[in-house]
Amino acid sequence: MHSIGGQVSDTTAQPKSATKDAPSKPNWWRQAAVYQIYPRSFADHNGDGLGDIKGITARVPYLKELGVDAVWLSPFYPSELADGGYDVADYRDVDPRLGSLADFDEMVSALHASGIKLIVDIVPNHTSDQHEWFQEALQSPPGSAARDRYVFRDGIGPDGSQPPTDWQSVFGGPAWHQVPDGQWYLHLFAPEQPDLNWDNKDVHEDFIKTLRFWSNRGVDGFRIDVAHALTKDLSEPLPTWEELRHLMHENLPLDGTHPFWDRDEVHEIYAEWRKVFNEYDPPRTAVAEAWVPRPRRPRYASAEGLGQAFNFDLLEAAWDASEFREVIDDNLTLSSESGASSTWVLSNHDVVRHVTRYGLPQDPDTKNGKSWLMTDGKEPKLDRELGERRARAAVLLLLALPGSTYMYQGEELGLHEVGDLPEEAMQDPSYFRNKGVEKGRDGCRVPLPWTPDGASFGFGSNGAHLPQPGWFADVAVAVQENDPASTLWLYRRALEARHKLQSGEALEWVDNGNAEVLHFARPDGWQCVTNFSAQPVPLPPGEVVLASVPVDDEIPADATVWLKV
Ligand code: GLC
Repeated sequence: MHSIGGQVSDTTAQPKSATKDAPSKPNWWRQAAVYQIYPRSFADHNGDGLGDIKGITARVPYLKELGVDAVWLSPFYPSELADGGYDVADYRDVDPRLGSLADFDEMVSALHASGIKLIVDIVPNHTSDQHEWFQEALQSPPGSAARDRYVFRDGIGPDGSQPPTDWQSVFGGPAWHQVPDGQWYLHLFAPEQPDLNWDNKDVHEDFIKTLRFWSNRGVDGFRIDVAHALTKDLSEPLPTWEELRHLMHENLPLDGTHPFWDRDEVHEIYAEWRKVFNEYDPPRTAVAEAWVPRPRRPRYASAEGLGQAFNFDLLEAAWDASEFREVIDDNLTLSSESGASSTWVLSNHDVVRHVTRYGLPQDPDTKNGKSWLMTDGKEPKLDRELGERRARAAVLLLLALPGSTYMYQGEELGLHEVGDLPEEAMQDPSYFRNKGVEKGRDGCRVPLPWTPDGASFGFGSNGAHLPQPGWFADVAVAVQENDPASTLWLYRRALEARHKLQSGEALEWVDNGNAEVLHFARPDGWQCVTNFSAQPVPLPPGEVVLASVPVDDEIPADATVWLKV
């Protein structure tokens, strides 16, 4: 009897405590399901339109029922919000609009009481321009100790009126900003995000203090923002932008010689941090956001360094069996090099939601959704259902892989990107600094719908800081809770079944003679089969534990099935 689409069969049931990687163990992170919360858009407790810490605490039962092992919280620190909180004004406090340290402690207790770990975001490449250090630097003369914590330089040209280089920032526009006394400071991102100088010992000491501060408050791990930046070699002569601009992400030099991305010295910082992490029991964990070529990734993930690194390869891949297979194989090899487990990611707060991406033509020009966003979600035409169907198949595939899966809030609702945010609603600096080229990242950061009606669909009592479209009503949590076929229930069942099925980290491919079907086996008889093709394929032998759509003796197009063999 195969037709248990969307249902967990009971025959594999064991008590949760019997799983080998129970969350209380030091290796809890190796095969964790981590849920990313973008706090300003999750749940608004105090009705100011901005999500907050108490909103998260109130939703811990939701997270527990979802079945995640850990939550990763994007920045909740005091911030002027020049970059959605990634411009941190004080690393050891909570933004008063989001709550207080007491609220934070209460949230940690509630999460831990529900068996959920907490990972917080650390932003070490730059501070906010409102940070007390930067304010002090502005008030101090060139050459002062306060300026040395950042990257200040004299300009060039007879009167120093030209920036030291012609480099562009990641969000567009120049990477240098001039201060009133004529000096310039470096900002790889927005001007409100001055880069720190990691040759300065105050910077090292202060981040260690921050890591201990949160670790002492019970935080279990850290997500390290742009972990491949931090150390820089700005010795003269500096390359021109023309020489540098092609050297991004996978095109970075493999020998660590780029002046500011992925330099070898950055690992000295992470070795220092590792010592701090290991002062705790269990050791605190960390995951690097490092946009580096694949062969450079294991070093970030090593046990002497951060311990894990994001792998964005699936996030960048088309919905295509051979691409997925290559990415999986490569990353399992890389993780055996580093000794870490692999990570798997389809969405986060920086990219077009994958439900939407998978409903667009999977061509190189359209698959990341950016061109679709530029037309306010009109062109190319989005096939919403196809995207939802593929996304359901994709998450079952990811959750069956050895390693940690990082999920982004709302994907458990099958939430699409909001493609038609009006200009007056936009907040993202990458929109303002890149007008006409990028629509920015606000469309994946629209506050979540909890109920089909009410002010801001249950997000809060008084509106939402980014406008929610009417169709949010149909996908609200409360609606999906009442529908056993919903994506929310698929995630809940998948996470529950994963706990029961997961043991060792091995993966073996099962040859099925069809290049469009990926079939692999995990230890103890757990198998996962994904049909990427547009045709149904025969269902292999085994008992269906879970399926992304109802199945009989065939696996329909764009679907995944978990089997117990
Ligand atoms: C990372 C964050 C992104 C932020 C940037 C600068 O890439 O994920 O949201 O804008 O760093 O801090």
